[in-house]
Amino acid sequence: MKLTSRSVSLVPIVSTVAAAALGASLILVANNTPANAATTLGAAAAQSGRYFGTAVAAGRMGDSTYIGILNREFDMVTAENEMKMDATEPSQGRFSYGNADRIVNHARNQGKRIRGHALAWHSQQPGWMQNMSGTALRNAMLNHITQVASYYRGKIYAWDVVNEAFADGNSGGRRDSNLQRTGNDWIEAAFRAARAADPGAKLCYNDYNTDDWSHAKTQGVYRMVQDFKARGVPIDCVGLQSHFNSQSPVPSNYQTTLQNFANLGVDVQITELDIEGSGSGQASNYDRVTRACLAVARCTGITVWGIRDTDSWRANGTPLLFDGGGNKKAAYTSVLNALNSAGPTTTTTTSTTTTTTSNGPGPGGCTASVSLNQWNEGFVATIKVTAGSAALRGWQVTTTLSNGTVTNSWSANRSGTNGTVNWTNVDYNGSVAAGQSTEFGFQGTGSGAGLDPTCTAS
Ligand code: XIL
Repeated sequence: MKLTSRSVSLVPIVSTVAAAALGASLILVANNTPANAATTLGAAAAQSGRYFGTAVAAGRMGDSTYIGILNREFDMVTAENEMKMDATEPSQGRFSYGNADRIVNHARNQGKRIRGHALAWHSQQPGWMQNMSGTALRNAMLNHITQVASYYRGKIYAWDVVNEAFADGNSGGRRDSNLQRTGNDWIEAAFRAARAADPGAKLCYNDYNTDDWSHAKTQGVYRMVQDFKARGVPIDCVGLQSHFNSQSPVPSNYQTTLQNFANLGVDVQITELDIEGSGSGQASNYDRVTRACLAVARCTGITVWGIRDTDSWRANGTPLLFDGGGNKKAAYTSVLNALNSAGPTTTTTTSTTTTTTSNGPGPGGCTASVSLNQWNEGFVATIKVTAGSAALRGWQVTTTLSNGTVTNSWSANRSGTNGTVNWTNVDYNGSVAAGQSTEFGFQGTGSGAGLDPTCTAS
């Protein structure tokens, strides 16, 4: 049952099927005509449960045009440089969060979420770390991750735990770096440390030149994520930086790449989008990237790498959505229109009685399913919450743990550790668009068999 109409605009219609399902309800259906389409990137993306973010530089926050656009258009923020290793641990064991906090506090005050970038990277390391190797470097990296992720615990939607660890070219293997030389397991060690420090943050692997499905580098990252999922290494998402220009254009198989990563059971995020060019050519490339994300259920959001062309790290290529004066470019309009085209169509229900089903996939309802990774002594359970044919504003899931005990959990609030355990959404994953899903998870000792999750809309 789809309560949409693309041909009728703002005309009340009564759907008998829908009315039956909702009791004596009158369903007003209006489509996304210009009259009711969202007018900002964040609001337009939110219609399908996604976010639209930007990189922010602390040094530009005194610029009122910059802040005005930030506050109006974007609902996710990445610190462009301020959370990198050189910024947060300039000398070993001395942590410095001043500029990062300016960005985080502003975002939170404005009700925006934050992508953390980045906990471990071969580049932008502080001088003291560049000269380290072996066990000392491995321990320094793990301590850095633990300290920074703990400091921001509960405030980060997703962390880029490891950035740019794969080599360009045809090898499909790892990039050589001081971190890589500490042992091939440095990436999974980083993810485990991040999970322990902030169990509520999604943990992402982030890279560039991983947009073309046929490239060896893309395949290398894919195999790593596949291996991590198979072995229970905690990874929740893959970030595609997506810096495009004439040497590195938007590939024709971009959507395939997003979908194939998503099929591994991770979210996909476009984390640093910029596309050099101008006019309608640039606008059509932005349209393609946006629509590719919208076509993949687990592509959860898009971040552009800066606000105005003049704010960009590649300013000469005018790769962003606003010109130097803060005016919307053609690329902006194409992104906004693409986001609006994904709807959903606004559905207004006015009536006497509206029944909300508890565990059905119908309007107002939700379903829950579990994916269990069990080993001898313990388990990791990932619970998928899927909205029915109406969007969710909040949800509660009940599980049964007869022979196991929860030791830690992420992306949900929980009532206890064994027996009947109730889980409710946290602030950033209560809204789930119709037909879309969100996930939370937990780790435990003993057996996770028989969890039998049931979902109730709240
Ligand atoms: C860039 C910043 O935009 C610049 O200001 C800085 O001088 C260098 O880093 N991949 C990443 C980002 O993950 O952190 C980089 O950001 C761009 C490439």
